[in-house]
Amino acid sequence: MKRSKITIVGAGNVGAACANWLVFKELGDVVLVDIPEVGDKTKGKALDLAQCGPVDRFDAKVVGTTDYAETAGSDVVVITAGLPRKPGMSRDDLVQTNVKIVASVTKQAAEASPNAVLLIVSNPLDAMVHTARKISGFPTQRIVGQAGCLDIARFRTFIAMEIGCSVEDIDALLMGGHGDDMVPLPRYTSVAGIPVTQLVGSDRLKAIIDRTKMGGGEIVKLMGTSAYYAPAAGTIQMVEAMVKDKKRILPCAAYCDKEYGVGGCFVGVPAILGKGGVERVIEVELDANERKLFEASVAHVKELCALADKFLQAG
Ligand code: NAI
Ligand code: 2OP
Repeated sequence: MKRSKITIVGAGNVGAACANWLVFKELGDVVLVDIPEVGDKTKGKALDLAQCGPVDRFDAKVVGTTDYAETAGSDVVVITAGLPRKPGMSRDDLVQTNVKIVASVTKQAAEASPNAVLLIVSNPLDAMVHTARKISGFPTQRIVGQAGCLDIARFRTFIAMEIGCSVEDIDALLMGGHGDDMVPLPRYTSVAGIPVTQLVGSDRLKAIIDRTKMGGGEIVKLMGTSAYYAPAAGTIQMVEAMVKDKKRILPCAAYCDKEYGVGGCFVGVPAILGKGGVERVIEVELDANERKLFEASVAHVKELCALADKFLQAG
């Protein structure tokens, strides 16, 4: 069987953690791409990771490079290039810088791998997915963003901590953009099949929802930069679903037009992920309050996309 080829653009904290999980899970050969300014670090990280193979007994070729020719024919291209936020910054503050980086790397990666699925991680996430679509011209099924896998993982972690049970037994749903107005959905959240509302009181549940929405900022305050282990774990969950054609239903920043009445933008929704990327957006029923929150989040995403377009045009 032909091994999958996975390119990661941006070999910083998130990119390197992604590469680590990819090789340990033996999901394919990995190409790490970064800029010449970081020197030989990218090659060093690749060599270091390749040398884990004999210890953990996995086979994966790992290349570190600045040259997109080495990424040619990738099945999945994960884009993590760009600035992370610092304490006091919101994800939105990154748009001006990151839109140019994401546009430039998307162009080069898409030319080298015209049949790849682009999986965007750089922030502000939903606007960067929009930018990747604009620049690559790829069909929307082959462009997707990672945010929901991380945000739901935070929601599940906090619920498990509250109940004192295994995180494995929590199933949850969360929709909307990757901002503080994301929409965790307790009505679609359960603990071993039991509705979460039967196990956690409404005040505590509200506190958990608020902590989830601010979960990125909580880590930025503690670390001085943004999270990377859980973001990478969420990203690799999506890569695995694609390279193994698992058809998993995962929260994805996927293109929605008629779906949820979004009217043409990428936003977090449950979707089936397989070999070709997003196979189908799943529409769940939202009550009036859930819909109102989701629509507010979509409106925010659209504003950010317009801002990204403006900065891109300004050059
Ligand atoms: P980092 O600073 O550790 O790594 C970013 C890397 O991108 C650096 O190595 C840098 O040299 C590289 N880079 C910059 N311009 C480049 C270019 N033109 N071509 C190739 N590489 C380039 O940052 P970190 O923590 O890895 O975060 C990366 C991005 O991911 C940030 O925008 C951050 O906000 C975002 N993020 C998104 C999450 C999500 O859930 N969607 C979660 C965590 C981070
Ligand atoms: C996070 O939520 C910064 O988007 C990143 O941790």
